[in-house]
Amino acid sequence: MSKIILAIESSCDETACAIIKNGNLLANVISSQVDVHAKYGGVMPEIASRLHSENIIPVIDAALKKANLTLNDIDAFAITRGPGLIGALHVGLQAAKTLAWLYNKPLIPVHHLAGHIYANSFVKEFKFPLLAIVVSGGNTELVLMNKDLDFQIIGQTKDDAVGECFDKVARVLGLPYPGGVHIDNHAKNGKHTYHLPSPLHDSLYDFSYSGLKTNVINLVHKLRQNNEEINIDDMAKSFQDTAIDMIIEKTKHVLKNYKINQILVAGGVSANSYLREKITQLANDKNVDVIIPPLWCTTDNAAMIAKVADLLFDKNVFAQLDLSCDPNWEIQDYLNFK
Ligand code: KG4
Repeated sequence: MSKIILAIESSCDETACAIIKNGNLLANVISSQVDVHAKYGGVMPEIASRLHSENIIPVIDAALKKANLTLNDIDAFAITRGPGLIGALHVGLQAAKTLAWLYNKPLIPVHHLAGHIYANSFVKEFKFPLLAIVVSGGNTELVLMNKDLDFQIIGQTKDDAVGECFDKVARVLGLPYPGGVHIDNHAKNGKHTYHLPSPLHDSLYDFSYSGLKTNVINLVHKLRQNNEEINIDDMAKSFQDTAIDMIIEKTKHVLKNYKINQILVAGGVSANSYLREKITQLANDKNVDVIIPPLWCTTDNAAMIAKVADLLFDKNVFAQLDLSCDPNWEIQDYLNFK
């Protein structure tokens, strides 16, 4: 029996639709709003919702054309239910609910971060127990998985997310939004010359990025007030080393205290070249398998949502059509939704 799932993702500033047939990706269409939000230095939620409304039908249409299918061929509709921006999530959810109702097919709710984690399963099979390092603009979490769809958060940020910290540091340095990739590029030419205290050594698995962000901002302001030249490459390198080394340090603690067969990185910051290099090195040193996702699945997309939906379909995990979006959905509660 064939199993064709159409998945929609609209949690932030990408409107995306993917189609998966028996686990094979047939289409993966993304309409990014990043250029629009860049003008404001960050995502403007109201503009994001409006653009999702404009883009959702053309994006679904394009995915169907790419897969050479019609809506009659679809066996289930999957949707990112949360976490994310409420107005943005709402647009995708209404589209998915309408299609599920119209075609009388199941609706599959997918957790956005589960999607980021399962993007890695396009690369190779998961080996449990595994450690998923989830690093994005809104999240910084160490997630332990003993089996499929079983998520246990063992560490998380106490304040800012690491991606948010990259973006704010980039902003004070005058780099465009989103700043992570620009910091990464500048750091490649820089040296670690600025001293930035590394926060939260007292917690084994939790993170804190707001102190580091404030340290960089204060240092930059002080140097400017004193008319001292700021070497952007060196500042980017000093900041990036400090921010990423914290993730490596916490991961080392996890590897010491838990049995882990595989490490993977997920979310926008998993595109960071220094993080990718350091995690690979650590996994090799500790003889643990590692998955480094290709760059295409580090940003928001619906292929990752389709991948999770494929598993949920087999488990008959479907939602009622009165499902609401949940901008603060906790990944541990994933399978308990109403
Ligand atoms: O996962 P994502 O697309 O958004 C959320 O769902 O939160 O992640 C976006 C984040 C932004 O903060 C962006 O600056 C960061 O990922 N990012 C990077 C890199 N590429 C994207 N951070 C560091 N280095 C990169 N190469």
